[in-house]
Amino acid sequence: MFRFFEKKQFQLTVDDNPPVQLKHKETILNGAVRSDIEFPYSCKVGGCAACKCKLVSGKIKALTDASYLLSKEELSQNFILGCQSIPKSDVVIELPDDPLQQQECIGTIVEQKVLTHDISEVVVRLDIPMTYVPGQYANVSVIDKSYPARSYSFAHTCDVEGSSVITFFVRAVPNGKMSNWLLSSESLGKRINVKGSFGEFYLRESEGAMVCIAGGSGLAPIISILENALASTEFQQTNRDVLLLVGGRTKKDLYYTEQIESIRSSWDGKFTFLPVLSEEPAESSWDGLRGFVTDFLEGDEMTGSEGYFCGPPLMIEAAIEKMNALGVPKDKLFFDIFSDQSK
Ligand SMILES: Cc1cc2nc3c(=O)[nH]c(=O)nc-3n(C[C@H](O)[C@H](O)[C@H](O)COP(=O)(O)OP(=O)(O)OC[C@H]3O[C@@H](n4cnc5c(N)ncnc54)[C@H](O)[C@@H]3O)c2cc1C
Ligand code: FES
Repeated sequence: MFRFFEKKQFQLTVDDNPPVQLKHKETILNGAVRSDIEFPYSCKVGGCAACKCKLVSGKIKALTDASYLLSKEELSQNFILGCQSIPKSDVVIELPDDPLQQQECIGTIVEQKVLTHDISEVVVRLDIPMTYVPGQYANVSVIDKSYPARSYSFAHTCDVEGSSVITFFVRAVPNGKMSNWLLSSESLGKRINVKGSFGEFYLRESEGAMVCIAGGSGLAPIISILENALASTEFQQTNRDVLLLVGGRTKKDLYYTEQIESIRSSWDGKFTFLPVLSEEPAESSWDGLRGFVTDFLEGDEMTGSEGYFCGPPLMIEAAIEKMNALGVPKDKLFFDIFSDQSK
């Protein structure tokens, strides 16, 4: 008699994984991650397409319009965004058959180089080389699974044959399990599992200016993209003008400035590098820009440009809003949000 009021729960099957029961109104991505199914994602809010997947059977309700992230062809082939899809029936999902996503390597943490008070560069020597598109990320886990798997973006360009040494810029999140372990002396020399490579954050071929915005460890994929543009012989992108805005609270948050200067001096187009501090004490010797990175996005330079943003969610949201207001359409804005993975 009360069946009418029962909350509907559906089954989710992803590739060859056993079917799992979804919670009422749970998205495909959340259900998969909660059930320990490897499912790529970044922003979780329908903005990056990292969670793109194919709906093989069943019905879903889309929470947002995916048409500016997915091509007409993808939409006609039933591609959907896992983070924006709530099943309305049992569903079967296929993840893109991407060989880059099927690499699983074991490596050893060989070095931790301190970059700031809370960010270090973690260097991993892999047993076999791994291939990635600069800007992408990997899922990193401890072999004995004593800490939860977390995503980290590759911080440098990828060698043509794949890279045997990879690095991540890791920020120590207060009370963070994985980040603090990766930065501790305990992890040095330890074996880890690296799966990848994932994500849709990479340089698109274009002639427009690149507006890059980075905050915290979000500088990693931006450095990777810029280094790759310089190293690439077939992908000529260094004629493009670059505006790189790096945000921090105080001077102690800034790092890699010498390396950025070196990239800048080798770049063919105009390359403007602007560090911006939001909480540097007024009496300090800092004579650079103060405020938020978005305060320094100005009209004329933005026409025809593309945005590449990586950092805290609020910074990215503000950058998207400002760029839209300056007339840069959403489909020219690419970003990676280092979202909280504990939820
Ligand atoms: C696609 C992607 C790429 C990423 N790349 C990088 C990278 O290159 N470098 C890097 O340092 N991190 C990166 N991250 C974040 C990283 O995956 C972890 O989420 C982060 O290191 C925290 O994990 P943890 O286990 O230490 O903390 P947890 O144990 O998961 O969390 C500890 C506490 O901190 C809170 N918390 C966790 N993450 C955040 C956050 N981002 N903002 C606010 N509060 C938070 C949690 O709610 C919890 O209360 C990336 C995330 C994604 C999704
Ligand atoms: S669009 Fe789904 S994770 Fe970004």
